[in-house]
Amino acid sequence: MNICVVGTGYVGLVTGAVFADLGNEVVCVDNVAKKIAQLQAGQMPIYEPGLEEMVARNVADGRLTFTTDLAAGVRRAVIVFITVGTPAKDTGQTDLAAVEVVARQIAEAMERYTVIVNKSTVPVGTGNLVREVIERHQTTPVPFDVVSNPEFLREGSAIEDTLRPDRIVIGAPTQQVAMTLLELYAPLERPMIITDVPSAEIIKYASNAFLATKISFINSIANICELAGADVTQVMKGMGLDPRIGPAFLQAGLGYGGSCFPKDTDSLIHTAATLGADFPLLRAVVDTNRERASHFVRTIEKALAPLDDKTLGVLGLAFKPNTDDMREAKSVEVISRLVERGATVRVYDPVAVGNARALLPPGVVYCESPYAAATDADGVVLVTEWNEFKLLNLERLRTVMRRPAVFDGRNLWEAERMKRLGFEYHSMGRKPVLPS
Ligand code: UDX
Repeated sequence: MNICVVGTGYVGLVTGAVFADLGNEVVCVDNVAKKIAQLQAGQMPIYEPGLEEMVARNVADGRLTFTTDLAAGVRRAVIVFITVGTPAKDTGQTDLAAVEVVARQIAEAMERYTVIVNKSTVPVGTGNLVREVIERHQTTPVPFDVVSNPEFLREGSAIEDTLRPDRIVIGAPTQQVAMTLLELYAPLERPMIITDVPSAEIIKYASNAFLATKISFINSIANICELAGADVTQVMKGMGLDPRIGPAFLQAGLGYGGSCFPKDTDSLIHTAATLGADFPLLRAVVDTNRERASHFVRTIEKALAPLDDKTLGVLGLAFKPNTDDMREAKSVEVISRLVERGATVRVYDPVAVGNARALLPPGVVYCESPYAAATDADGVVLVTEWNEFKLLNLERLRTVMRRPAVFDGRNLWEAERMKRLGFEYHSMGRKPVLPS
């Protein structure tokens, strides 16, 4: 099938590469010429395991190309995917400006029947909006349909998630239109939900809001565990064995960050309000998440105060492991608060330093290894649970530190082990190991 993907961010690039890998002819379009030039030269604008190899393979086989020429891409395609950014405005409302611009350009380019698919995360009603924009701007009046096909990929496992999604959601105006998408996805052999456009749009937000709710719920339980002397990881295990609850997304910690959950929860609250419905439950989820970084810094402060003569080594900056994405990363808030209190902050992350520099306060010292970040530190602060931190030589870490205090924002290590190794150890929703 001939496919055009407009927008080469996470979703667009991964979707384009996977469709090409399935044997389709794919053109990826972006209006940033530099990005397209980079992609044509085989350089990936994002870090995503397996992506570079998949892109290279399909470019070499001639199935995947990159261009800034949207009109040419649209004209040869049967299906056009819109995968441009949908950032949040200050009000929490989703900014659909890029979607509207692209819809208009597609309308101006289209010469025959085309299926236009919204894959960007867009609020309910956007399918209609795109249809109206296209109707208004068509140069050649040809029939078209607008479909909603939300993406559920996670950064860091985006290829795997796209190849083996839990479900494929297709919101289409008619069964016949849905069939075009069905055919495209058939080789994946995954469960498919065929529904109407608004229901598909809501499935995406409802799923992300529910997952965010699980995270804020367990973090609230973690607060109670801290006060009651209980262990949230045990509580989570006990809850997770109930198949109605399940263990996924019940890791207590610094809360959720990234490009999706914070923005999508705000957007759903906004959409609800626009439609005349209140969503107090989701507002509480967002507030609870916002509290996590300050709660963590209070724990650090309680143990080490005053902080103005202390050095802290921060491990992990990305919003989660296996990505260089710093959007809504908890590290930014934790580090800013530590710096505000006068602490000297030394940081290490395996891949996110390049993106972090612009977001972290001046004075932060960037280090080449976790041990370098911990050198002469009064405390090590774990923010992102990279696997390499799990495998750290903790004895070596302790010997380079001035004071062996560890603040684990993701419950990466076992309290017993930390105690045995002679650390003072503070984690989330578990009893601290205090110096004897
Ligand atoms: C998420 C959704 O998983 C995906 O389906 C959607 O399409 C986009 O948003 P992503 O943002 O890449 O994907 O990351 P994810 O792995 O879901 O983690 C989100 C955040 O939640 C991270 O900050 C992570 O640290 C946090 N998290 C996750 C927890 O704090 N506890 C958990 O138990 C799970």
